[in-house]
Amino acid sequence: MSEAKITLHDPKTGQTHELPVYHGTYGSPVIDITRLHAKTGYFTFDPGFVSTASCESRITYLDGEKGELLYRGYPIEQLAEKCSFLEVFYLLVHGELPTPEQRREVEHAITHHTLINESLLEFFKGFHYDAHPMAMLTAVVASLSAFYHDSLDINDPEHRLQTAYRLLAKLPTIAAAAYKHRVGEPFMYPRNNLSYCGNFLHMMYARPTEDYEIDPVAEQALDTLFILHADHEQNASTSTVRLAGSTGTNPYAAVAAGIAALWGPAHGGANEAVLAMLDEIGDVKNIDKFIARAKDKNDPFRLMGFGHRVYKNFDPRAKIIKRICHKVLERYGNDPRFELAMRLEEIALKDEYFIERKLYPNVDFYSGIIYSALGFPREMFTVLFAIGRAAGWIAHWLEMMDDPRRKIGRPRQLYTGPARRDVPR
Ligand code: SDX
Repeated sequence: MSEAKITLHDPKTGQTHELPVYHGTYGSPVIDITRLHAKTGYFTFDPGFVSTASCESRITYLDGEKGELLYRGYPIEQLAEKCSFLEVFYLLVHGELPTPEQRREVEHAITHHTLINESLLEFFKGFHYDAHPMAMLTAVVASLSAFYHDSLDINDPEHRLQTAYRLLAKLPTIAAAAYKHRVGEPFMYPRNNLSYCGNFLHMMYARPTEDYEIDPVAEQALDTLFILHADHEQNASTSTVRLAGSTGTNPYAAVAAGIAALWGPAHGGANEAVLAMLDEIGDVKNIDKFIARAKDKNDPFRLMGFGHRVYKNFDPRAKIIKRICHKVLERYGNDPRFELAMRLEEIALKDEYFIERKLYPNVDFYSGIIYSALGFPREMFTVLFAIGRAAGWIAHWLEMMDDPRRKIGRPRQLYTGPARRDVPR
């Protein structure tokens, strides 16, 4: 990082302070404020971290103005077209695309970690049949630490990598078990002769009573969707994983914290909320009423799947997902909600409110339509987001654990509560 300086003049003391400025490969330069409080007695104030870079990372870059997304320098459009999800997982973790030998190794490692401890299947019986799958996923992933806690030395790079592979391998098994619990069907065990996504579809939809044939269109669509969801720099759930991991807790607990953060409708929970919104809108003739509600400050309703903290242009992932929509619906039959969504996009993007605020469809706007066509119930949509994003959470956890400058994350605050007072007794 090249270093310049920025000066801060404090009118209170008349002092001038110099702060280092760093320039990365791309993106906004950063002012290093690590010594700001020691030097000046000031904190910075940035609720929601709108202007704060929480770390240095070499994994993912996104340009909100251009609508560009790079994983380790490769454009998302090329990765989605030319690579598999496990190749992209390898890229995010190791920094380079795998050689054919390395690809075989990572596929073998993931495949042979897909089984979960039989006792974990008992956990699902403790949930009510209609427990939300994200609640089950959060709980069972956190419980993985109960099975590996003693054998896991997070200061051992080999242990860290093995845990990384274990986590990505077991997520589809746990996700499918959550679904089977909800529908009251027997759990299906993973099969080592299937691809990552083929195995997931098998565990989701196969039954012991009959053969199940994996549809290559569904298998490919899922694999590409997992790539598109794999990472997105310091989003809320990834920042949660980094903050939890910075305490030295085990990675299963840190990733479970990320899953919990992703569940929120302002984040990964939006894909489920978009389908609920489209069902509520119901017909093109109702769009204007909902657009008006989205613009009304007194109405908590927001256009789900629209807007983004970073993208002030089209989310490049939304464009690719929209194309996958056409392909999947050709295979599985049209969904009137796709037409409704495209009409909603068309109308919203001509409206001054959305244009002025640079609100465009994001990754969640069309993805649920594909998931629905593939037979996933709405409650499973954010679980699918979590499986893809686990690749990024794991890569960022590893990057943070490898950083010699690692410190426990501990932000400060602006206190505006009561001054010191005595208990009146
Ligand atoms: C994801 O961070 C990531 O990278 C996330 C993600 C990832 O891959 O990890 O990309 C995945 O979470 C995508 C976002 C999914 N969420 C939604 O689709 C929910 C709907 N979107 C909004 O909640 C909102 O756009 C956010 C949460 C996504 C972004 O919120 P910000 O950055 O805090 O923006 P803001 O709330 O300050 O909005 C700026 C203005 C406000 O109006 P004004 O006060 O300036 O008049 O835009 C308005 C907002 O009211 N606005 C919307 C809107 N989103 C923002 N108005 C109506 N509908 C919306 N969807």
